[in-house]
Amino acid sequence: MSETASITIDGKVYNYPVMTGTEGEKCIDIRKLRGDFGYITYDEGYANTGSCMSGITFIDGEKGILRYSGYAIEELAERSDFIETAYILIYGELPNREQLASIRNLILGNAAIHQTMFHSFAGFPTSSHPMAILSAMLNSLGCYYPNMATNNRDQDLEHLDVAATILISKVRALAAMTYRMKLGRPFIYPKGQLSYCSNLLHMMFSEPYADYTASSRVDRALNLVLLLHADHEQNCSTSTVRMVASGGANLFASVSAGVCALWGPAHGGANMAVIQMLEGIHQEGDDGTRFVEAAKSGDRSKRLMGFGHRVYKNFDPRAKILKEASKKLFASMRIRDPVLDIALKLEDIATHDEYFIERKLYPNVDFYSGIIMRSIGIPLDFFTVFFAIGRMPGWIAHWKEMAMGKSPIHRPRQIYTGSVLRKFIPLEERQ
Ligand code: CMC
Repeated sequence: MSETASITIDGKVYNYPVMTGTEGEKCIDIRKLRGDFGYITYDEGYANTGSCMSGITFIDGEKGILRYSGYAIEELAERSDFIETAYILIYGELPNREQLASIRNLILGNAAIHQTMFHSFAGFPTSSHPMAILSAMLNSLGCYYPNMATNNRDQDLEHLDVAATILISKVRALAAMTYRMKLGRPFIYPKGQLSYCSNLLHMMFSEPYADYTASSRVDRALNLVLLLHADHEQNCSTSTVRMVASGGANLFASVSAGVCALWGPAHGGANMAVIQMLEGIHQEGDDGTRFVEAAKSGDRSKRLMGFGHRVYKNFDPRAKILKEASKKLFASMRIRDPVLDIALKLEDIATHDEYFIERKLYPNVDFYSGIIMRSIGIPLDFFTVFFAIGRMPGWIAHWKEMAMGKSPIHRPRQIYTGSVLRKFIPLEERQ
């Protein structure tokens, strides 16, 4: 007999089916609850609410497990790269040689930005935040591909293979163009022989008269940062993409909304907060010791940024991978940066201090991605943009899953706590 869960309200008992995921996760299917009782459930922040069935990413926070389409993140980090991983997320399978070559070629071939988009760039003040520009530009991209942004699901799905490569390619170009525009420098075109990540750095840092060449260690570290950010199941930005898609909006509009959701400091901005914290410690003349002591006071505003995680309670598998990558990168670069020295000191103190050990507060992915990006020379206000470049394949995969499924428009309920019905008072009679 299939498992059920009973709910009793006003003496009436109703049985609701229990559903089980492929990894044994259980949920109570309460879709008929409101119809049966007139009650809804209250779960602000959705921590206990499954908003969808998804076959893309599996996380077990207690065990530190993260898998894309069944592939362990550790194995992908060791044996794959960002573009192959993007394919796995979007198509759910490993690509064969031709499929991989085809997606790489399409991404390279779609790097150019329509000349008229340069006018849009010129319209932004140079002080604009790059996330605001990125969101606006990704939505505008849909205007250049009206046959792929019809808001007719069947038609938009028909073009998804190409639309996905356009977005993965052009999000990189748009990020680089924004950086160049803010500096008043000319746009740099990608090169056919460079990898996705080396091209991104080339498009940002090369000059028409002098090429920037990323070392293989830098290319690898950036590949890992993007690959490890490529998806993280339901989170603020991905669920936003699915929410927008649930209304039938096209892929370009949906990922543009994802960028806005990612922008907030509680989501994509944590890696920036890590560097701001480290710079603050340096400016105070502290080597990190005083800051760690203050962080143990329990005062939220003094927390060690880049430590702890809502989901991963023993370790963050992405942080483990990036920790090793950062060690190799720093050794190969032989850079002297007092801020990075403080980061390594904080990591050392916190991983040996009882306060952090007892509470299972380990450095998380943002701690290492922040210090890796700083060492590569990515400006602070572009950290979240790089997160968006990494997350693009995940957003596309979730948009596709949503568009191919039968999910109704997302429309949560609420408990109203405002005034009950009252009379409108004309202006002249108001106190
Ligand atoms: N520094 C110092 N103490 C901390 C920290 C920290 N970073 N994080 C948690 N604690 C303490 C907290 O004061 C509490 O202590 P006590 O038990 O004595 O009251 C205990 O640890 C448990 O804290 P909590 O708030 O219940 O833990 P949580 O799981 O709800 O919070 C967190 C998780 C990520 C919000 C929190 O650890 C935090 O604020 N970290 C710093 C910000 C950060 O790095 N955010 C990025 C997270 S990763 C995002 C991603 O996956 O992309």
